[in-house]
Amino acid sequence: MELLCPVCGLPLCKEERLWRCVKNHSFDIARQGYVNLLTVDKKHAKHPGDTKEQVAARKSFLDGGFYAPIAETVRELITPLSPKAVLDAGCGEGYYLTKLQEALPEAAFAGIDISKDAVRFAAVRNKNALWLTGTAASLPFPDKSFDCVLSMFALTVEQEFARVLKDDGYYLRVTAGEDHLMGLKQIIYPEILRKEKELHPQFHGFRLEQTKTINFTFTLESNKQVQDLLSMTPHFWRISKEGAERLHQTDTLTDTAQVVFDLYQKE
Ligand SMILES: C[S@@+](CC[C@H](N)C(=O)[O-])C[C@H]1O[C@@H](n2cnc3c(N)ncnc32)[C@H](O)[C@@H]1O
Ligand SMILES: [Zn+2]
Repeated sequence: MELLCPVCGLPLCKEERLWRCVKNHSFDIARQGYVNLLTVDKKHAKHPGDTKEQVAARKSFLDGGFYAPIAETVRELITPLSPKAVLDAGCGEGYYLTKLQEALPEAAFAGIDISKDAVRFAAVRNKNALWLTGTAASLPFPDKSFDCVLSMFALTVEQEFARVLKDDGYYLRVTAGEDHLMGLKQIIYPEILRKEKELHPQFHGFRLEQTKTINFTFTLESNKQVQDLLSMTPHFWRISKEGAERLHQTDTLTDTAQVVFDLYQKE
């Protein structure tokens, strides 16, 4: 897979322990195997993206298999497309990319996330993908590098995604549905305000090809699992003191996930 220098945009060449461009900008390969391509000017915080604690909670929850139906649906939608190269933008700690790779062992996989902690976990999880710290707003790949880009509960940067996709390539956007995790919401909010969500948005340069919504129920059997789930959601940032206290008393939770899969094709 080809990488571009985030400083000057020229190709990077892989050496033993680093990637370097002809202008001598170089990027170390970390002990765990990932490469940090996030330059200081693109960082909006010292440690942007999810924190180490959030990443650890997400890993623990996903490894519990509670969201396996999501990974299974990604596999169902992507495998028939037989991609040769796949990018996961906002890959987190690499669970979904790794699951998809099991079904497509011949394809090349890359994951990028702005959180160094997330990418470090991903690189430990899976040695057979290219893991990068960087921003999806400026992807370090040449035009038309991928057959498929995924964004799982992460951002869409339509122009960049269209640029790195080959002609007719696919973009799979996975988001929470309106009725996602109502059980958790009922515990943490006295009153649930339903926000109108834009379903199946249009993206410039893409045509919506297919959409699928899944609902599935799962049961958490410890407060740790409940807290891990909270850390994965935007409610983690919004929860009130009272809500946090109620959740603290919650040792079991049966909840329903609602997840929307929108598959777009590049026009
Ligand atoms: C809700 S998490 C989802 C993680 C993973 N896709 C999953 O579903 O397990 C969103 C991720 O987007 C990452 N992120 C936020 N801004 C980003 C950016 N500009 N470029 C790349 N990743 C970003 C965060 O660090 C976080 O890991
Ligand atoms: Zn350079």
